[in-house]
Amino acid sequence: MRGKIFGKPIITKEEMRKRIKILGQQITEDYADKDLLMVGVLKGAFAFFSDLTRAVRLPLHVDFLIVSRAKAKGRSPGRVKIISDIAKDLSGQDVLLVEDIVDSGETLTFLKKKMIERKPRSIKCCTLLDKPKGREVDVAIDYIGFSLPDQFVVGYGLDFEDKYRNLPYIAVLDKISERAKKP
Ligand code: IMP
Ligand code: MG
Repeated sequence: MRGKIFGKPIITKEEMRKRIKILGQQITEDYADKDLLMVGVLKGAFAFFSDLTRAVRLPLHVDFLIVSRAKAKGRSPGRVKIISDIAKDLSGQDVLLVEDIVDSGETLTFLKKKMIERKPRSIKCCTLLDKPKGREVDVAIDYIGFSLPDQFVVGYGLDFEDKYRNLPYIAVLDKISERAKKP
């Protein structure tokens, strides 16, 4: 019963730990001579962000954005809105946006544009999960944890109806996700 509620694990805690260690090493090398500001996109990125920042061996800065999608009709996800923002001036900063998952690419495209307007020295993106089949807007992602098929996943920060974020691994909620997809 418990397994049914939490869904089938597709990425285990151990796989996550190993992958984040490698991503942390890559970011450490790439940003060795830079002034790194890691920006976590909440709520979804909270768990990944916390682990990833601690895998980077640099004296970096952290900040957070809270975003939400305004409700829209049918399957359309609605407009992306920033509910809580970071500092406006990013001059001189090497910004790394950290997302939980990229699906259509709309959220990341929107956030990247918003960051570029603030003139950082550089901007790159990192996502724990990528669902390339769902892509509707082409957006460059510099660091990807895992690529997944087009299925709805929860855990490790990712939610379904704002629940399951505390699950310590990534799981598929088959039945629930089928319901979620219907208009
Ligand atoms: P995009 O704008 O379509 O790329 O969607 C990205 C956002 O949709 C993510 O930040 C998540 O909040 C949400 N999302 C997309 N796929 C999933 C999923 O499988 N599980 C949980 N949230 C998801
Ligand atoms: Mg998100």
